[in-house]
Amino acid sequence: MNQSKKAMDWGNLGFSYIETDVRFSARWHDGDWDEGELVASSEMRVHEGSPVLHYGQACFEGLKAQTAPNDDILLFRPELNCQRMKRTTERLLMPTVPESLFMNGVESVVRANAAWVPPYGSGASLYIRPFLVGVGENLGLRPAPEYEFRVFVSPVGPYYKGGGLSLIDLAVIDLDRAAPKGLGAFKAGANYAGGLMATQMAQSLGAQEALYLDPAEHRFLEEAGSANIVLKMKDGTIVTPESESILPSVTRRSVMTLASDVLGLNTIERPVELLKEVDDIDEFAACGTAAVISPVGKIRVGDHWYRFHGNGESIGPTTQALYDHLTEIQKGEREDPFGWTRAV
Ligand SMILES: Cc1ncc(COP(=O)(O)O)c(C=O)c1O
Repeated sequence: MNQSKKAMDWGNLGFSYIETDVRFSARWHDGDWDEGELVASSEMRVHEGSPVLHYGQACFEGLKAQTAPNDDILLFRPELNCQRMKRTTERLLMPTVPESLFMNGVESVVRANAAWVPPYGSGASLYIRPFLVGVGENLGLRPAPEYEFRVFVSPVGPYYKGGGLSLIDLAVIDLDRAAPKGLGAFKAGANYAGGLMATQMAQSLGAQEALYLDPAEHRFLEEAGSANIVLKMKDGTIVTPESESILPSVTRRSVMTLASDVLGLNTIERPVELLKEVDDIDEFAACGTAAVISPVGKIRVGDHWYRFHGNGESIGPTTQALYDHLTEIQKGEREDPFGWTRAV
């Protein structure tokens, strides 16, 4: 193993915060961004009137770095995270983080914390959390006078217990994640405070996460608490729910491209009416940076558990193939025909 790495039990990491050596911080005030710098402290000092503390003026992103067989550290499509943060900042009346600042923040933190990037073959990765908060003296309901853009990293293992590619269950509960024309399609911190109770309710029913239906009619499939949905229908088509109130997942967009361009499957993004179509679904998967591609064995709707591939007890071959292709590209084990990875 690489001697310059920290002494960690890389194979047994969970998905939780581990403090690394440095983080990146840049400030916006008087209409301009400063250059930003690497800082040692994991603590932030913010004014008590800061809009982030009262009115949730905050947004974030999440992506991962992985070690390739040749020891390169690879980022996966970071420019899409930058673009998504731009959309979110516009919606929340926050200043946009320029692409050069975003990339410099991400790359410099990863480089400076290279000893914390899990080694090749460990099954772990470095989670990267860029975020932007509205700070400074304020009381009225208006955008913040100043902003801080930060990027920290933490080595992580699998998001769901069981590790690697393991089956999860989801439960539809009686709470909405997003409102029509609300913040659902944006990675706003406020979405996630509202989701805490939904996750807790889903877990009390024996599932790992909540599965959301459309907020207007509760008929159409939306997404899970931190992952988009991809379905393989019994006719072989790959379907992902079309909706204006789900987060446009980088992983889901990549999985749909792999399904069509590499596996040669028929793919479509369209509304999915859950109860009408549930019996037509063969494989059900949740995908996201943290979840990677997690096969869903069963979902609970009302008092009934609906089961998918192999009576909800085995991983479908298409989910497995998509998982293999995606993770092999992310780890630099397979040719990257789309130019998705970027060495730091
Ligand atoms: C609500 C929600 N949906 C989907 C995703 C997956 O998005 P991505 O693949 O860009 O990580 C996330 C974040 O990871 C999320 O928070």
